[in-house]
Amino acid sequence: MGESVIPLTDLRTRATPARVPAVPIPATGLLSDRLGRPLRDLRISVTDRCNFRCSYCMPKEVFDRDYRFLPQSSLLSFEEITRVARLFVAHGVVKLRLTGGEPLLRKGLEVLVQQLAALRTPQGEPLDITLTTNGTLLARKAVALREAGLKRVTVSLDALDDDIFRRMNDVDFPVADVLAGIDAALAAGLAPIKINMVVKRGTNDHEIVPLARHVRERFGPGAVLRFIEYMDVGATNGWRLDEVLPSAELRARLHAAFPLEPLPAAAPGETAERWRYADGGGEVGFISSVTQAFCGDCNRARLSTEGQLFLCLFATRGHDLRSLLRGGASDADIASAIGLAWQERSDRYSELRGSGTAEAGSGERRVEMHYIGG
Ligand code: GTP
Ligand code: 5AD
Ligand code: SF4
Ligand code: SF4
Repeated sequence: MGESVIPLTDLRTRATPARVPAVPIPATGLLSDRLGRPLRDLRISVTDRCNFRCSYCMPKEVFDRDYRFLPQSSLLSFEEITRVARLFVAHGVVKLRLTGGEPLLRKGLEVLVQQLAALRTPQGEPLDITLTTNGTLLARKAVALREAGLKRVTVSLDALDDDIFRRMNDVDFPVADVLAGIDAALAAGLAPIKINMVVKRGTNDHEIVPLARHVRERFGPGAVLRFIEYMDVGATNGWRLDEVLPSAELRARLHAAFPLEPLPAAAPGETAERWRYADGGGEVGFISSVTQAFCGDCNRARLSTEGQLFLCLFATRGHDLRSLLRGGASDADIASAIGLAWQERSDRYSELRGSGTAEAGSGERRVEMHYIGG
């Protein structure tokens, strides 16, 4: 790494305080950003820690024994998270995703799930509550999570081959235990399960067809495998364009083994393009943030582990909500601050990168994904 790299710890403290506007912005559910995009999806990071060291996310050389993760006192409490989530729901959010780091490392997470499951939209509907996990603790926790009100889970799984899987997680974790975690989640009724595979050319691209075959055979249509183009998120993973396998090429490879047919989008703003196996073997998805950006209807906000609101996965700055929460601000003030931040949002990083203008920004370092959630 070059000398100009800012220590990671600096980034986390570079929050802009969330501004409370003089004229309140009431939560009507009709919020719209500068590009006319609504707010529907809140991703909540509950810990910046992870027991894996995937090179595309938390490379070992950076996230080593000396790396200082956030202290417990910095993290939002479950009550603080639930309060913020409730205000987002009033603004129109209908989907909550718990992420990390690895969210199941946060002690007592089922208590948070229970609190969030009690929230209702202004129309009285329950929320779509899900969780992104590496699956290592799923076998132990699936039933408790389901009982607490979790609806479904997304499990990251980058290879079926044990050697490749151990190399990619870089902590020598066996793939069999993650597969058992998926079994447990399905048995607990956490369905449909989504399985996310980040594809790096030359590292795990030859695992595409074996993994697809395995998911079809072992989990059936209850599991949806999604292939993710390796992204230039964060600033530590040494991203290179030549390691990206474009979804079009990936789909052609899969189609040669299992013919595919396109499916219509299930909801606006979706990350994945949906396809199905022509033989009825289920559905697959392609998330093409590099070759086919999907910023146009991006309705996702992210709440970091320590209560910063990020308006884009590639943002360089967050809006500090924790200082409002801990400074005695009213619900109306916090709702107004969220409303203002969203109204002023014009982020569309992936699209700009695609058109070659993304780096024309401030040149500030981008936030790391394990800290704001994927
Ligand atoms: P479902 O509701 O289950 O379909 O989830 P989702 O696709 O909205 O969320 P998930 O966290 O499973 O997203 C899958 C992957 O897509 C993430 O791990 C990221 O790699 C990528 N991704 C998610 N959201 C964004 C986004 O807003 N921008 C970009 N560029 N990539 C994203
Ligand atoms: N590119 C694409 N996806 C990534 N993730 C983390 N880092 C990257 C990256 N560089 C996503 C993966 C993983 C989830 C936790 O975050 O989908 O499953
Ligand atoms: Fe952990 Fe997920 Fe990042 Fe891998 S991608 S290091 S499992 S947070
Ligand atoms: Fe949304 Fe930013 Fe991702 Fe575009 S790059 S889809 S604006 S989070």
